[in-house]
Amino acid sequence: MKKIQMVDLQSQYYKIKPDVDNAVLNVMNTAAFINGPEVKFFQSELETYLDVKHVIPCANGTDALQIALMALNLKEGDEVITADFTFAATVEVIHLLKLKAVLVDVDYDTFTMDTEKLKAAITPKTKAIIPVHLFGQCSNMEEILNIAEQHDIHLIEDNAQAIGSEFTFSDGTVKKSGTMGIMGTTSFFPSKNLGCYGDGGAIFTNDDELAHKIRGIVNHGMYERYYHDEVGVNSRLDSIQATVLRKKLTLLDTYNEARRKAADYYDDAFADCAEILTPKRADYSSHVFHQYTLRILGGKRNDLQKFLTEKEVPAMIYYPVALRKQKAYFQDSNDVDFVNTDKLLEEVISLPMHTELDDEQLKYISDAVLEFMNK
Ligand SMILES: Cc1ncc(COP(=O)(O)O)c(C=O)c1O
Repeated sequence: MKKIQMVDLQSQYYKIKPDVDNAVLNVMNTAAFINGPEVKFFQSELETYLDVKHVIPCANGTDALQIALMALNLKEGDEVITADFTFAATVEVIHLLKLKAVLVDVDYDTFTMDTEKLKAAITPKTKAIIPVHLFGQCSNMEEILNIAEQHDIHLIEDNAQAIGSEFTFSDGTVKKSGTMGIMGTTSFFPSKNLGCYGDGGAIFTNDDELAHKIRGIVNHGMYERYYHDEVGVNSRLDSIQATVLRKKLTLLDTYNEARRKAADYYDDAFADCAEILTPKRADYSSHVFHQYTLRILGGKRNDLQKFLTEKEVPAMIYYPVALRKQKAYFQDSNDVDFVNTDKLLEEVISLPMHTELDDEQLKYISDAVLEFMNK
C-alpha cells in the first residue's frame, strides 16, 4: 500500500506532469513572469467557471481577505463579524486593519456560522460579515444574505476551503460558492481544492466599481502608472502559478468528485458507530470536502489520534484553539455563547482527504478508526 498522507500532492502532480512541466517551461521561455498572459487567461477562465464578472488574482488567501476589506473604506473600530471556529487569517486581517473583530459561534453540525448568533451580534457599528465556508461546504448563505441586506451590511465570503461547491437557494437558483456576497475570496495554497505550486489567491466580485478599486489596491494603489491614488499593497499571482492553476482548473470538478467519493466511503464505514458523527451534508450546499472532519464522542478523540499515529495514519485537529482565546486576538467572552465551538475543539479530527486516495488506503484508515472505537 502507498504511504498514507493527509494530502498527496506528489501523486496528483505525477498524473499531470507532462502538461504542467510544458506549461511552466513555456512561461520560463517567454520570461513573462509577472502580469503575463497566463495570469489574464487564468483570470478569465476562472470568471467563466464561477460565472462571476471579475476575478482579481493576488498573492495569497490572506491578502485576498485584507484587500477585500480595504476596498470597503471602513473606519477604525468598525465591526466585522466572523466565526470563532476557523483558520486565523480572517480575524488576523480584521485586526491588522484596526477594525473590531466580533466572533460568533458556529453550527455544531455544519461547522459554519450560526445564523441566530450572527443576528444577535449585529450592532449599529457592524459594517461587514465574513462567513467562512469551512471544510468545503457553503455557510447558510440565503439566511446570511437576508440578514446582511436587512441591516445594509457588506458580505464577504471566505471561500478558501470551498471552491467549486454550489449553493441552492429556496427558489431553485444555484450559485457557486464565493459569488453570492459583494465579494468572495479564495486561497490557492497547494493543499487547497484548487491549489498551485506556491502561494496564490484571488478576490471575486460582480461589482464593476469594486473590481476597479481592487485592481488598484493590489498594485500599490495605482490606477495610472506611478500615480498612487490610495495606499495599496503589492499582491500578485505570478505567471508560473497561473499556468499551473489553468491546468488544475480544468480538473477541479473531477478532483472535487474524487474527494466526495472518498467521503462517501468514510461515511459508509462509520455509519454504525454511535460514537462517531460523520460530517453533515447540508441540503442547501454541495460539499467539496476540503477536509473530512469527524466528531468523536465519549472523550476519545485524543487517544484516537495517538492510535492512528501508531498505525501510520495521519490525522489532524482543525482547529485546536478558538480564535477568541488566541493570545493575538484575545476577547473577553461569555463561554455560554460559544458552546458549539468549545465542544468541537474537543471532538473534531480530520482524516486524510485528497484526490489520490485509493480503496485500499480508505479501508486501512477506516479499519484503524473502527478498531480503536470498538475496543
Ligand atoms: C478559511 C481560510 N481562510 C484564509 C486562508 C488563508 O489563505 P493563505 O494561506 O493562502 O493566505 C486559509 C488558508 O489556510 C483558510 O483556510
